[in-house]
Amino acid sequence: MNILILGGGGREHALAWAVRQNPKCDRLIVAPGNAGIAALARCAALDILDPAAVVEFCAAEAVDFVIVGPEAPLVAGVADALRAAGVLVFGPSAAAARLEASKAFTKALCAEAGVPTAEWAAFEEEGAALAYLAGHPVPVVVKADGLAAGKGVTVAATRDEAAAAVRAAFGGAFGPAGARVVIEAFMPGEEASLFVMADGQSAVPVGTAQDHKRVGEGDTGPNTGGMGAYSPAPVLTPALEAQAMDLIVRPTLAAMARRGTPFQGVLYAGLMIADGTVRLVEFNVRFGDPECQALMMRMGAQALDLMHACAEGRLAGAAVNWADDHALTVVLAAEGYPAAPRTGTTIGGLEGLPATASQMLFHAGTAEAGGRIVAAGGRVLNATGRGATLAEARERAYALAEAVDWPHGFFRRDIGWRALRG
Ligand code: GLY
Repeated sequence: MNILILGGGGREHALAWAVRQNPKCDRLIVAPGNAGIAALARCAALDILDPAAVVEFCAAEAVDFVIVGPEAPLVAGVADALRAAGVLVFGPSAAAARLEASKAFTKALCAEAGVPTAEWAAFEEEGAALAYLAGHPVPVVVKADGLAAGKGVTVAATRDEAAAAVRAAFGGAFGPAGARVVIEAFMPGEEASLFVMADGQSAVPVGTAQDHKRVGEGDTGPNTGGMGAYSPAPVLTPALEAQAMDLIVRPTLAAMARRGTPFQGVLYAGLMIADGTVRLVEFNVRFGDPECQALMMRMGAQALDLMHACAEGRLAGAAVNWADDHALTVVLAAEGYPAAPRTGTTIGGLEGLPATASQMLFHAGTAEAGGRIVAAGGRVLNATGRGATLAEARERAYALAEAVDWPHGFFRRDIGWRALRG
């Protein structure tokens, strides 16, 4: 099988690493890829947001199967165009990707399907949103409706903070994503993620994870795309996972099918867990980044079989064959991240690092420049460990992170603290 993976971050490096281990993969191309991916696949320059260009590329390169990593190409209709052209693809249609692209859409679907989530209201006008806030208890959550690169959510402790978030959104801080604002009640509890592959008929859980969104140790400081993650998430017990499947995932998939927009791909359910119950925080329509890095370390070659079965509508009866293992990934970020990451700095110490089934340094924002590997983004490397226990996985991940020689990078030293405490 000739396979094309779209994307160029740590998630796509982990996907490529897992896919490469499967003998069904003949040729692997990643577009655009990054300096680490280049060691195991051909990296191709391609506008992955241009559906026609992706279709044309697949025809020229005899691609049999496309795996879409990030949400933006899905929202742009790349999966639709590939299906229309007869190319097998893992990833939902643009209509189904609205589960991530519009928070108001998802909230309305939750109401229709009886999915438990926070009380909410949506606004397209600043005055109405501010008036609603005036009578709302705090804390309160203010969200830009659309895709805002992880920056559109404010958990406001005061009404002033909430009002500032509303004004920022309507003032254009998030571009078109902020033209509509969702205000919702704050949900206390512990957050975890459940990943489920769905082929339009069947739904198969493919792992749980928890990530650390704040930049600083102790979960402090500004929000990021994620500074580390681990899988499984012990807080999401088998009973709670079953509850999430029954109350959240299956009703959502059924409602999408009833609407004539069945979901095919991986559904990422962000869940809030409190008092033995789960509620939906948000959906994403792709693997999480960096959660995917921990998941792929655990799934290995079978990830390709599952994604392929999902794309072909053959998921019925499928399941992940787990090894009773744990994985943890630590994000190495460029100084200044998330506000103003410094790019172009040289990363050393990469030669001779272990690259095994229990230790992998995935590249996220890296590039090759004159024979050097340099930082080319905010989140730059993902040191990932796998072990029989979470503590062992953590030790292996941090040993890798420590071995990287990058004075202009930093990482949190407490990834996994919730699961490892006490
Ligand atoms: N790590 C959070 C996300 O991928 O959305």
